[in-house]
Amino acid sequence: MIRQLFDRVSCTYTYIVLDLKTRECVVIDPVMEQFDRDETLMKQWGYTPKYTLETHTHADHISAAKLFREKYKSKIAVSSYGLAKGADIYLKENDSISTEQISIKVLHTPGHTEESLCFLYKETIFTGDTLLIRGCGRTDFQGGSADDLYESVHSKIFTLPSETKIFPGHDYQGRLWSSVGEEKKHNPRLTQTKEQFKELMQNLGLSYPEKMNVAVPANSLFPDT
Ligand SMILES: [Fe+2]
Repeated sequence: MIRQLFDRVSCTYTYIVLDLKTRECVVIDPVMEQFDRDETLMKQWGYTPKYTLETHTHADHISAAKLFREKYKSKIAVSSYGLAKGADIYLKENDSISTEQISIKVLHTPGHTEESLCFLYKETIFTGDTLLIRGCGRTDFQGGSADDLYESVHSKIFTLPSETKIFPGHDYQGRLWSSVGEEKKHNPRLTQTKEQFKELMQNLGLSYPEKMNVAVPANSLFPDT
């Protein structure tokens, strides 16, 4: 079972995958300011967090991974392709994070950042900022590359069965989830040619995220507690 939660300030989605048998859960992209909310829900459901997974080093919010580890000894799992230090597990392509009944497969999908990951769980993919609903993450910092993002999406996400459910890292317009088939058909960026896509991504003219200078260092260091 998957629960989807939203942080209104950063428009981030957090996902909690529940192991109904062991009553452990895996938390994907938890947000620091929402720790109390998430913890309360887990307590009410009777679940203990076993792992926290980060799709990438977020620039717009600070992860709650350290808080979960401090309180529940959950393991912090981050990309092995980045610079984060002090995590418990460094994930690479084809690794799995498992509990008795859950197995989440790791895909390395560089582009939004060079260490970005997607997580595949049964017929669902958690795409982080690699692929958003009718959009995608920016590619202009943290080793981002429009070329890589285009390749990652086309080779690792758009090759999945069309009914695969897409749970993105953010949405700014109130949409919750999508599917591979839907994005292959309607994503206005990723349906273009690679050259058109690269030009489009070069000309987005976005300002840097407000919290970037605080969030990136905080999300890159998980010191032992
Ligand atoms: Fe991001």
